[in-house]
Amino acid sequence: MDRIALSQSVEVSRIVYGMWRLADDPDTSPTHVRAKIDACLAQGITTMDQADIYGGYVAESLLGDCLKQSPGLRDQIEVVTKCDVVAPVGKYADARVKHYDTSATHITASVDASLMYMGLDHIDLLLIHRPDPLMDAAETGGALDALIAAGKIKAAGVSNFRPWDWDLLQANMTHPLATNQIELSLAARDSFTNGDLAHAQQHRIRPMAWSPLGGGSLMAEDGAVAARMETIAQAQGVDRAAVAVAWLLAHPVGILPVMGTNTLSRIATFSDALRVEIDRQMWFELYEAANGQEVP
Ligand SMILES: NC(=O)c1ccc[n+]([C@@H]2O[C@H](COP(=O)([O-])OP(=O)(O)OC[C@H]3O[C@@H](n4cnc5c(N)ncnc54)[C@H](OP(=O)(O)O)[C@@H]3O)[C@@H](O)[C@H]2O)c1
Repeated sequence: MDRIALSQSVEVSRIVYGMWRLADDPDTSPTHVRAKIDACLAQGITTMDQADIYGGYVAESLLGDCLKQSPGLRDQIEVVTKCDVVAPVGKYADARVKHYDTSATHITASVDASLMYMGLDHIDLLLIHRPDPLMDAAETGGALDALIAAGKIKAAGVSNFRPWDWDLLQANMTHPLATNQIELSLAARDSFTNGDLAHAQQHRIRPMAWSPLGGGSLMAEDGAVAARMETIAQAQGVDRAAVAVAWLLAHPVGILPVMGTNTLSRIATFSDALRVEIDRQMWFELYEAANGQEVP
């Protein structure tokens, strides 16, 4: 599995395991969480993607409980987590309205809470989860720089940012932003043409792709894209999911897919995507099938 340096201080695996759905699994025991991480590690997948809000603010604790019972495991993984979404559930049940908070006070308190829930002394990569219309870039950038300087986070990045959001925050930081985690898949193709990936390629940013299988919708559908994926999958001896992910891996910007299944057997085959060959015409066959029309 390729290792990717996202900054001078953070290296991640090319494929990332996402823990958004961790609390949805009927089995949330530390042993079962450990089994999922082990299935990743067996393939060289070492990067775990979290967010404070996942599972209604409990998914970080599920990972923490597992790490506390598994001495040495923390040193084999990189932990990514996110902050700024405040939803009126769990520890924020008193909030009147769902909102974003990129104030220095909120970000710093959120990082301290994430460190406590996961039992960590540092977070490898902290992402601002969603662009905040009230972001004061100087304040937010200063808070992220200070967290890096304090050693609480190794690097900072963003998620769901448009190019102008990235430029604004980066202009107010001394440390380089490490990545932008955005929705990218055959089911979510806007970023291929709306400037997101052009901006990433121009600035040599390696984006992470969330919901690379469209949150499962690409696996459930039986239309033209499914037929194309199935043909390639059968020819190359993999399943459809591997083809959907390989389609992302084929892009020259160097996308890092963040996979989300809770199923152990599916986790065990994540790396199949790395051996699928998608040439230019296959890429367009899938793209055009998803668009429902050929390119002009
Ligand atoms: N930054 C953001 O704003 C943001 C937003 C959303 C997600 N994320 C990150 O992205 C990660 C992945 O998102 P996601 O879970 O929507 O990703 P995904 O990999 O596109 O979808 C996973 C879902 O597809 C289902 N699925 C059906 N068939 C499958 C197959 N053959 N192989 C694999 N999965 C199959 C899984 O069900 P089973 O579990 O039953 O297998 C699971 O519910 C999250 O965990 C999170 O870390 C970030």
